Amino acid sequence: MKIAILPGDGIGTEIMAEAVKVLKALNLPLEMETALVGGAAYEAHGHPLPESTLNLAKSADAVLFGAVGDWKYDKLERHLRPEQAILGLRKHMGLFANFRPAICYEQLVGASSLKPELIAGLDILIIRELTGDIYFGTPRGRRTATDGLFPGTEEAFDTMRYSRPEIERIAHVAFQAARKRNKKVTSVDKNNVLETSQLWKDVMVEIGQQYPDVELEHMLVDNAAMQLVKAPKKFDVLVTGNMFGDILSDEASMLTGSIGMLPSASLNSKNQGLYEPSHGSAPDIAGKGIANPLATILSAAMMLRFSLNQEAAAQRIEAAVQTVLQQGLRTADIYSEGTTKVSTSQMGDAVVKALAA
Ligand code: IPM
Ligand code: MG
Repeated sequence: MKIAILPGDGIGTEIMAEAVKVLKALNLPLEMETALVGGAAYEAHGHPLPESTLNLAKSADAVLFGAVGDWKYDKLERHLRPEQAILGLRKHMGLFANFRPAICYEQLVGASSLKPELIAGLDILIIRELTGDIYFGTPRGRRTATDGLFPGTEEAFDTMRYSRPEIERIAHVAFQAARKRNKKVTSVDKNNVLETSQLWKDVMVEIGQQYPDVELEHMLVDNAAMQLVKAPKKFDVLVTGNMFGDILSDEASMLTGSIGMLPSASLNSKNQGLYEPSHGSAPDIAGKGIANPLATILSAAMMLRFSLNQEAAAQRIEAAVQTVLQQGLRTADIYSEGTTKVSTSQMGDAVVKALAA
């Protein structure tokens, strides 16, 4: 089983080192090959997603990805910015289905900014369409002179676009996922304003008819943002487009106390996948050894489950993470009084130790 390891920028290298440690401790026949991506690749090769990195990713059974980005690249032309690496991987590998679970660990109920009773036992799954929408719409966004409201000045546009097949396939993914859970899908859009959203909703209704055992509800995105903090446990599977999914998944992750805990999977139609923590590269804390590696470690577990067919190994990792939380070990982002603050590598070591136990 070949895994492409792409640590990226900022805390990416630190958290990836811990995930690799954990994978090695499993004693599985895993072949791991590392490559540069994002700002790190730009520095070395002049491009955030070099051919060699893309080819490695495509040839692997799965990709484990850290994080990319740093404010210092904000002035680069857009196609050279670190974020283009992850967008390029999604596009070129056809990773259209993004799974972002938001699970509240019992031991971390106190770490959330919401009242414990709102989030205790929370387990929702956001399914974000990942290769369409305003992120990839043609004509490509650009800046132009305007003849609009303020003629003679400058304007910019991006194109929000969805085709029926793109919506159909993500709808199937959502309904099938719901079947394995609590059989409820909330489809989130903005059909009161946007034509793309009206098509989204219509297709969701149509595909939903093939899944009569799954309840389908529709919610406007602004309301969904509100309901997520008002009554998050009413959600089971939330399916939405690329842009809304980007925003709502960050919001949902924070319900659980720390974005540092949440893994994600991005899959294509061949079940090839890219696995990454839901958080970013956090340049402000990079190099300090304080980042939480658990989201990346849990992403490795998702990778074993979805792309490598190693359910038992995935469960071992998840159990080990539960154990270290139970032991009271916490990185700074989830620390609270009465628990033990540990560094990034101490957390990784603790997971490895718990695996052995
Ligand atoms: C995410 C990130 C990316 C996105 C960025 C880094 C391009 O925010 O994975 O949610 O917007 O999709
Ligand atoms: Mg995001």
